[in-house]
Amino acid sequence: MSENSRLVILVGSVREGRFGPVVASWVAEQAGAHGGFDVDVVDLANADVPLALPAESPKLAGEAYPRPAGMLDLTARFEAADAFVIVTPEYNHSYPASLKAAIDWHFTQWTAKPVAFVSYGGAAGGRHAVLHLENVLTELHAVTIRDGLSFPNYYLNFDMDAGLPHDDQAGVYAKAMLEQLDWWATVLKDARRRIPYPA
Ligand SMILES: Cc1cc2nc3c(=O)[nH]c(=O)nc-3n(C[C@H](O)[C@H](O)[C@H](O)COP(=O)(O)O)c2cc1C
Repeated sequence: MSENSRLVILVGSVREGRFGPVVASWVAEQAGAHGGFDVDVVDLANADVPLALPAESPKLAGEAYPRPAGMLDLTARFEAADAFVIVTPEYNHSYPASLKAAIDWHFTQWTAKPVAFVSYGGAAGGRHAVLHLENVLTELHAVTIRDGLSFPNYYLNFDMDAGLPHDDQAGVYAKAMLEQLDWWATVLKDARRRIPYPA
């Protein structure tokens, strides 16, 4: 039996009164039930992620990149991850600035790793946010996963007290996403160990 992959479930919104942690907590339960992952829920609200970046590129600076002390834990957890699920809302047809900043402060931590998406929002359910994220993560040499979950009008599609989706098929969709993510995480972890990635 192969070792578990380390999965970071990233809460992308930091807004006061945000819904993101409810979705992330449900995703973490699904990932725990899957059994193939050691799950780490990372909340950007707990990290210091300034908008002003250093002069150099995080790709070229490597470990010498001058990150604030309040970001070091975030960076270490990204570094340790074999796979990511990004939990994102949609803000003005894209994803939150908090998430963009966290992505831009890192580079190699994303490279040759799989990323799946669970989105939520108003009418759009986060579909524009995910399209933008797929585009951005390609630049970082991440591998985006085809299957994901979207919760439009999340206040109608979630039992707000229980923190569970009303759709009883949601768990089935989550399982499909997690199985693809697990496959890629296992394959890419092995490949990263054996062959230097040509980036
Ligand atoms: C600044 C802002 C812009 C938004 N723009 C959109 C949008 O373009 N499409 C959409 O479906 N929902 C939009 N919404 C609704 C959010 O997706 C919804 O409020 C969601 O709960 C926000 O995530 P959060 O609670 O984790 O911050 C917007 C919300 C905010 C605060």
